[in-house]
Amino acid sequence: MSSINNQAATTSPEDAEYLLAGTGTEFMAALKGQVFFAPLDTAREEMKILDMACADGVYLTFFIPPFSLRTLLREMSTRLPSSTSFVGVDLMKSFLPAKDATPDNYRYLAQDVLTPLPGDLQGVFDLANVRLMFAGVVGKEAAAVQNLVDGLKSGGWLQIMEMRLYTPYGGDDDKTAYDDADDGDGETQSLKDFKTLLSSVFAAIGLQKGFPMGLEGVMKDAGLQDVRVVVVDAPIGKDVSEDRKLQLLSVGPFQLTIKTLVATCEKLGLQIPASVTDNLEDRLVRDALEHGGKFQFAVLTGRKA
Ligand SMILES: C[S@@+](CC[C@H](N)C(=O)[O-])C[C@H]1O[C@@H](n2cnc3c(N)ncnc32)[C@H](O)[C@@H]1O
Repeated sequence: MSSINNQAATTSPEDAEYLLAGTGTEFMAALKGQVFFAPLDTAREEMKILDMACADGVYLTFFIPPFSLRTLLREMSTRLPSSTSFVGVDLMKSFLPAKDATPDNYRYLAQDVLTPLPGDLQGVFDLANVRLMFAGVVGKEAAAVQNLVDGLKSGGWLQIMEMRLYTPYGGDDDKTAYDDADDGDGETQSLKDFKTLLSSVFAAIGLQKGFPMGLEGVMKDAGLQDVRVVVVDAPIGKDVSEDRKLQLLSVGPFQLTIKTLVATCEKLGLQIPASVTDNLEDRLVRDALEHGGKFQFAVLTGRKA
Protein backbone atom coordinates (compact mmCIF):
# COMPACT_ATOMS: atom_id res chain seq x y z
CA MET A 1 0.00 0.00 0.00
CA SER A 2 2.66 2.48 0.91
CA SER A 3 4.07 2.39 -2.61
CA ILE A 4 0.98 4.14 -3.93
CA ASN A 5 1.01 6.75 -1.19
CA ASN A 6 3.48 8.97 -2.92
CA GLN A 7 2.01 12.09 -1.36
CA ALA A 8 2.60 10.89 2.19
CA ALA A 9 3.87 13.53 4.56
CA THR A 10 6.08 12.72 7.49
CA THR A 11 4.69 13.23 10.94
CA SER A 12 6.97 15.59 12.77
CA PRO A 13 7.77 14.98 16.44
CA GLU A 14 5.89 18.06 17.60
CA ASP A 15 2.64 16.87 16.04
CA ALA A 16 0.07 15.46 18.39
CA GLU A 17 -0.49 11.77 17.96
CA TYR A 18 -3.76 11.12 16.19
CA LEU A 19 -5.63 7.90 16.66
CA LEU A 20 -6.08 6.74 13.09
CA ALA A 21 -3.34 8.58 11.37
CA GLY A 22 0.18 7.30 11.64
CA THR A 23 2.89 8.21 9.16
CA GLY A 24 1.89 7.03 5.74
CA THR A 25 -1.45 5.63 6.87
CA GLU A 26 -4.02 5.82 4.15
CA PHE A 27 -7.71 5.82 4.40
CA MET A 28 -9.79 5.14 1.37
CA ALA A 29 -13.49 5.29 1.29
CA ALA A 30 -15.67 4.25 -1.55
CA LEU A 31 -18.81 6.35 -1.47
CA LYS A 32 -20.00 5.38 -4.92
CA GLY A 33 -18.36 8.37 -6.45
CA GLN A 34 -20.48 10.91 -4.63
CA VAL A 35 -18.69 13.76 -2.90
CA PHE A 36 -21.45 16.37 -2.56
CA PHE A 37 -24.41 15.19 -0.55
CA ALA A 38 -25.59 18.72 0.22
CA PRO A 39 -27.57 20.18 -2.70
CA LEU A 40 -24.76 22.41 -3.88
CA ASP A 41 -25.05 24.09 -7.28
CA THR A 42 -21.83 22.67 -8.67
CA ALA A 43 -21.95 24.92 -11.74
CA ARG A 44 -21.83 28.13 -9.71
CA GLU A 45 -18.73 30.31 -10.10
CA GLU A 46 -16.63 31.81 -7.31
CA MET A 47 -17.71 29.46 -4.53
CA LYS A 48 -15.68 28.96 -1.38
CA ILE A 49 -15.25 25.43 -0.01
CA LEU A 50 -13.87 24.51 3.41
CA ASP A 51 -12.57 21.04 4.16
CA MET A 52 -12.01 20.73 7.90
CA ALA A 53 -9.60 17.96 9.00
CA CYS A 54 -8.58 17.72 5.35
CA ALA A 55 -5.26 15.86 5.71
CA ASP A 56 -4.83 16.99 2.16
CA GLY A 57 -1.21 15.92 1.86
CA VAL A 58 -1.66 12.47 3.31
CA TYR A 59 -4.93 10.76 2.77
CA LEU A 60 -6.06 9.02 -0.34
CA THR A 61 -9.63 8.87 -1.34
CA PHE A 62 -10.93 6.08 -3.42
CA PHE A 63 -14.02 6.69 -5.40
CA ILE A 64 -16.05 4.59 -7.80
CA PRO A 65 -16.50 5.26 -10.59
CA PRO A 66 -14.01 6.33 -11.74
CA PHE A 67 -11.26 5.27 -9.41
CA SER A 68 -8.97 8.05 -8.49
CA LEU A 69 -6.21 8.43 -5.98
CA ARG A 70 -6.99 11.85 -4.61
CA THR A 71 -7.77 13.35 -1.28
CA LEU A 72 -11.37 14.41 -0.82
CA LEU A 73 -10.59 18.09 -1.23
CA ARG A 74 -8.72 17.47 -4.51
CA GLU A 75 -11.54 15.28 -5.74
CA MET A 76 -14.05 18.04 -4.99
CA SER A 77 -12.00 20.51 -6.98
CA THR A 78 -12.28 18.33 -10.11
CA ARG A 79 -16.06 18.71 -9.94
CA LEU A 80 -16.31 22.47 -9.48
CA PRO A 81 -15.47 25.49 -11.70
CA SER A 82 -11.87 26.68 -11.64
CA SER A 83 -13.04 29.94 -10.03
CA THR A 84 -13.78 28.03 -6.81
CA SER A 85 -11.45 28.63 -3.89
CA PHE A 86 -10.59 25.97 -1.35
CA VAL A 87 -9.53 26.18 2.25
CA GLY A 88 -8.09 23.08 3.89
CA VAL A 89 -7.69 23.02 7.67
CA ASP A 90 -6.10 20.30 9.78
CA LEU A 91 -4.82 20.02 13.31
CA MET A 92 -1.68 18.30 12.02
CA LYS A 93 0.57 20.70 10.20
CA SER A 94 2.53 17.84 8.68
CA PHE A 95 -0.64 16.48 7.08
CA LEU A 96 -0.88 19.58 4.89
CA PRO A 97 0.87 19.74 1.52
CA ALA A 98 4.02 21.73 0.93
CA LYS A 99 3.50 25.28 -0.36
CA ASP A 100 5.01 24.49 -3.76
CA ALA A 101 2.54 21.62 -4.17
CA THR A 102 -0.39 23.92 -3.56
CA PRO A 103 -2.45 25.41 -6.40
CA ASP A 104 -3.13 29.17 -6.24
CA ASN A 105 -6.79 28.77 -5.36
CA TYR A 106 -5.95 26.70 -2.26
CA ARG A 107 -5.16 27.97 1.21
CA TYR A 108 -4.16 25.80 4.14
CA LEU A 109 -4.33 26.41 7.84
CA ALA A 110 -2.99 24.24 10.64
CA GLN A 111 -5.47 24.68 13.44
CA ASP A 112 -7.94 22.93 15.69
CA VAL A 113 -11.61 22.82 14.70
CA LEU A 114 -12.24 23.93 18.28
CA THR A 115 -10.51 27.24 17.54
CA PRO A 116 -12.75 29.75 15.75
CA LEU A 117 -11.80 30.32 12.12
CA PRO A 118 -9.89 33.54 11.42
CA GLY A 119 -11.99 36.67 10.86
CA ASP A 120 -11.67 36.60 7.06
CA LEU A 121 -13.04 33.03 6.99
CA GLN A 122 -16.16 33.83 9.02
CA GLY A 123 -19.47 33.77 7.15
CA VAL A 124 -17.90 33.07 3.75
CA PHE A 125 -18.21 29.39 2.83
CA ASP A 126 -20.77 27.84 0.49
CA LEU A 127 -19.85 24.41 1.83
CA ALA A 128 -18.02 23.29 4.94
CA ASN A 129 -17.12 19.62 4.64
CA VAL A 130 -15.82 17.34 7.40
CA ARG A 131 -15.03 13.68 7.02
CA LEU A 132 -13.83 11.31 9.72
CA MET A 133 -12.93 13.92 12.31
CA PHE A 134 -15.51 13.79 15.08
CA ALA A 135 -13.73 10.92 16.88
CA GLY A 136 -11.07 13.57 17.56
CA VAL A 137 -13.42 15.94 19.40
CA VAL A 138 -15.44 13.68 21.68
CA GLY A 139 -17.55 15.71 24.12
CA LYS A 140 -16.84 18.92 22.21
CA GLU A 141 -18.98 18.27 19.16
CA ALA A 142 -21.17 21.33 19.73
CA ALA A 143 -18.19 23.70 19.78
CA ALA A 144 -16.78 22.08 16.63
CA VAL A 145 -20.08 22.33 14.78
CA GLN A 146 -20.55 25.94 15.90
CA ASN A 147 -17.15 26.95 14.54
CA LEU A 148 -18.01 25.31 11.23
CA VAL A 149 -21.42 26.99 11.09
CA ASP A 150 -19.77 30.34 11.83
CA GLY A 151 -17.64 29.82 8.74
CA LEU A 152 -20.71 29.40 6.52
CA LYS A 153 -22.41 32.22 4.74
CA SER A 154 -26.17 32.45 4.83
CA GLY A 155 -27.52 29.58 2.68
CA GLY A 156 -24.20 27.67 2.97
CA TRP A 157 -24.17 23.95 3.76
CA LEU A 158 -22.43 21.88 6.40
CA GLN A 159 -21.69 18.31 5.32
CA ILE A 160 -20.38 15.73 7.78
CA MET A 161 -19.37 12.18 6.82
CA GLU A 162 -18.54 9.66 9.53
CA MET A 163 -18.38 5.91 9.66
CA ARG A 164 -21.30 4.30 11.43
CA LEU A 165 -20.33 2.56 14.60
CA TYR A 166 -21.36 -0.59 16.34
CA THR A 167 -21.86 -1.71 19.88
CA PRO A 168 -18.43 -2.70 21.15
CA TYR A 169 -16.99 -5.37 23.34
CA GLY A 170 -16.70 -4.16 26.89
CA GLY A 171 -18.61 -0.99 26.06
CA ASP A 172 -21.79 -1.62 27.99
CA ASP A 173 -24.28 -4.32 28.81
CA ASP A 174 -24.94 -5.20 25.19
CA LYS A 175 -22.17 -7.47 23.95
CA THR A 176 -23.41 -8.06 20.45
CA ALA A 177 -21.11 -6.57 17.88
CA TYR A 178 -23.90 -4.93 15.94
CA ASP A 179 -26.62 -2.73 17.16
CA ASP A 180 -28.17 0.04 15.14
CA ALA A 181 -26.15 -0.48 12.00
CA ASP A 182 -26.92 -2.79 9.13
CA ASP A 183 -24.75 -5.81 9.88
CA GLY A 184 -25.25 -7.20 6.42
CA ASP A 185 -26.50 -10.75 6.20
CA GLY A 186 -23.59 -13.10 5.70
CA GLU A 187 -20.92 -10.55 6.60
CA THR A 188 -17.59 -12.29 7.02
CA GLN A 189 -16.23 -12.92 10.50
CA SER A 190 -13.08 -10.93 9.76
CA LEU A 191 -15.09 -7.83 8.83
CA LYS A 192 -17.19 -8.22 11.98
CA ASP A 193 -13.96 -8.54 13.95
CA PHE A 194 -12.52 -5.40 12.37
CA LYS A 195 -15.65 -3.42 13.15
CA THR A 196 -15.65 -4.75 16.70
CA LEU A 197 -12.03 -3.68 17.14
CA LEU A 198 -12.70 -0.21 15.76
CA SER A 199 -15.88 0.35 17.72
CA SER A 200 -14.25 -0.88 20.93
CA VAL A 201 -11.54 1.75 20.60
CA PHE A 202 -14.09 4.43 19.77
CA ALA A 203 -16.21 3.46 22.78
CA ALA A 204 -13.14 3.61 24.99
CA ILE A 205 -12.43 7.18 23.92
CA GLY A 206 -16.02 8.11 24.73
CA LEU A 207 -17.89 8.06 21.43
CA GLN A 208 -21.57 7.57 22.07
CA LYS A 209 -23.34 4.43 21.04
CA GLY A 210 -25.10 5.19 17.78
CA PHE A 211 -22.41 7.64 16.66
CA PRO A 212 -22.57 9.64 14.45
CA MET A 213 -26.35 9.93 14.47
CA GLY A 214 -26.23 12.15 17.56
CA LEU A 215 -24.64 14.87 15.45
CA GLU A 216 -28.03 15.50 13.85
CA GLY A 217 -29.27 17.08 17.11
CA VAL A 218 -26.04 19.05 17.49
CA MET A 219 -26.51 20.49 14.00
CA LYS A 220 -30.12 21.44 14.70
CA ASP A 221 -29.11 23.02 18.02
CA ALA A 222 -26.59 25.12 16.09
CA GLY A 223 -29.51 26.54 14.12
CA LEU A 224 -28.99 24.62 10.88
CA GLN A 225 -32.07 24.02 8.77
CA ASP A 226 -33.11 21.16 6.50
CA VAL A 227 -30.88 18.78 8.47
CA ARG A 228 -30.80 15.38 6.79
CA VAL A 229 -28.98 12.11 7.36
CA VAL A 230 -28.31 9.51 4.69
CA VAL A 231 -26.46 6.23 5.06
CA VAL A 232 -24.08 5.34 2.24
CA ASP A 233 -22.41 2.00 1.64
CA ALA A 234 -18.65 1.85 1.26
CA PRO A 235 -17.91 -1.54 -0.32
CA ILE A 236 -14.56 -3.32 -0.18
CA GLY A 237 -12.81 -6.17 -1.99
CA LYS A 238 -14.90 -8.21 -4.37
CA ASP A 239 -17.84 -5.81 -4.03
CA VAL A 240 -15.78 -2.92 -5.39
CA SER A 241 -14.79 -4.11 -8.85
CA GLU A 242 -13.80 -7.11 -10.94
CA ASP A 243 -10.27 -5.75 -11.02
CA ARG A 244 -8.04 -7.53 -8.49
CA LYS A 245 -5.72 -4.55 -8.11
CA LEU A 246 -8.59 -2.25 -7.17
CA GLN A 247 -10.00 -4.87 -4.83
CA LEU A 248 -6.68 -4.98 -3.01
CA LEU A 249 -6.40 -1.20 -2.89
CA SER A 250 -9.83 -0.93 -1.32
CA VAL A 251 -8.95 -3.18 1.59
CA GLY A 252 -5.37 -2.04 2.18
CA PRO A 253 -6.17 0.93 4.44
CA PHE A 254 -8.28 -1.18 6.74
CA GLN A 255 -5.50 -3.71 6.91
CA LEU A 256 -3.05 -0.98 7.89
CA THR A 257 -5.41 0.48 10.46
CA ILE A 258 -5.56 -2.85 12.34
CA LYS A 259 -1.99 -2.44 13.65
CA THR A 260 -2.80 1.04 14.98
CA LEU A 261 -6.04 -0.15 16.55
CA VAL A 262 -4.43 -3.14 18.25
CA ALA A 263 -1.66 -0.90 19.63
CA THR A 264 -4.28 1.58 20.85
CA CYS A 265 -6.20 -1.22 22.59
CA GLU A 266 -3.02 -2.24 24.38
CA LYS A 267 -2.33 1.35 25.39
CA LEU A 268 -5.86 1.79 26.71
CA GLY A 269 -5.80 -1.59 28.50
CA LEU A 270 -8.79 -2.87 26.52
CA GLN A 271 -9.40 -6.59 26.71
CA ILE A 272 -10.26 -7.63 23.18
CA PRO A 273 -10.63 -11.41 22.75
CA ALA A 274 -7.73 -12.95 20.84
CA SER A 275 -10.24 -14.54 18.48
CA VAL A 276 -11.03 -11.00 17.24
CA THR A 277 -7.48 -9.84 16.60
CA ASP A 278 -5.65 -13.07 15.71
CA ASN A 279 -4.38 -12.95 12.15
CA LEU A 280 -6.99 -10.29 11.42
CA GLU A 281 -4.99 -8.48 8.74
CA ASP A 282 -4.65 -11.60 6.59
CA ARG A 283 -8.19 -12.77 7.26
CA LEU A 284 -9.66 -9.41 6.30
CA VAL A 285 -7.85 -9.31 2.96
CA ARG A 286 -8.61 -12.92 2.10
CA ASP A 287 -12.30 -12.60 2.96
CA ALA A 288 -12.72 -9.25 1.21
CA LEU A 289 -11.22 -10.67 -1.99
CA GLU A 290 -13.29 -13.84 -1.83
CA HIS A 291 -16.58 -12.56 -0.45
CA GLY A 292 -16.53 -8.74 -0.54
CA GLY A 293 -17.98 -6.67 2.27
CA LYS A 294 -18.95 -3.15 3.13
CA PHE A 295 -18.68 -0.37 5.64
CA GLN A 296 -21.29 2.29 6.08
CA PHE A 297 -20.99 6.03 6.34
CA ALA A 298 -23.59 8.37 7.72
CA VAL A 299 -23.64 11.67 5.86
CA LEU A 300 -25.31 14.58 7.64
CA THR A 301 -26.15 17.82 5.88
CA GLY A 302 -27.71 21.06 7.05
CA ARG A 303 -28.12 24.63 5.75
CA LYS A 304 -27.37 27.88 7.50
CA ALA A 305 -30.39 30.17 7.53
C1 LIG B 1 -9.13 9.88 9.72
S1 LIG B 1 -8.39 11.39 9.19
C2 LIG B 1 -9.51 11.94 7.92
C3 LIG B 1 -8.86 12.79 6.87
C4 LIG B 1 -9.79 13.29 5.75
N1 LIG B 1 -10.84 14.12 6.30
C5 LIG B 1 -10.39 12.14 4.98
O1 LIG B 1 -11.56 11.80 5.19
O2 LIG B 1 -9.68 11.50 4.17
C6 LIG B 1 -8.75 12.47 10.53
C7 LIG B 1 -8.15 13.83 10.39
O3 LIG B 1 -8.74 14.69 11.36
C8 LIG B 1 -7.74 15.57 11.84
N2 LIG B 1 -8.19 16.06 13.14
C9 LIG B 1 -8.39 15.37 14.27
N3 LIG B 1 -8.81 16.16 15.26
C10 LIG B 1 -8.88 17.41 14.74
C11 LIG B 1 -9.23 18.69 15.28
N4 LIG B 1 -9.57 18.79 16.57
N5 LIG B 1 -9.20 19.76 14.46
C12 LIG B 1 -8.82 19.63 13.17
N6 LIG B 1 -8.47 18.46 12.61
C13 LIG B 1 -8.48 17.36 13.39
C14 LIG B 1 -6.50 14.67 11.91
O4 LIG B 1 -5.31 15.41 11.97
C15 LIG B 1 -6.65 13.88 10.63
O5 LIG B 1 -6.04 14.52 9.55
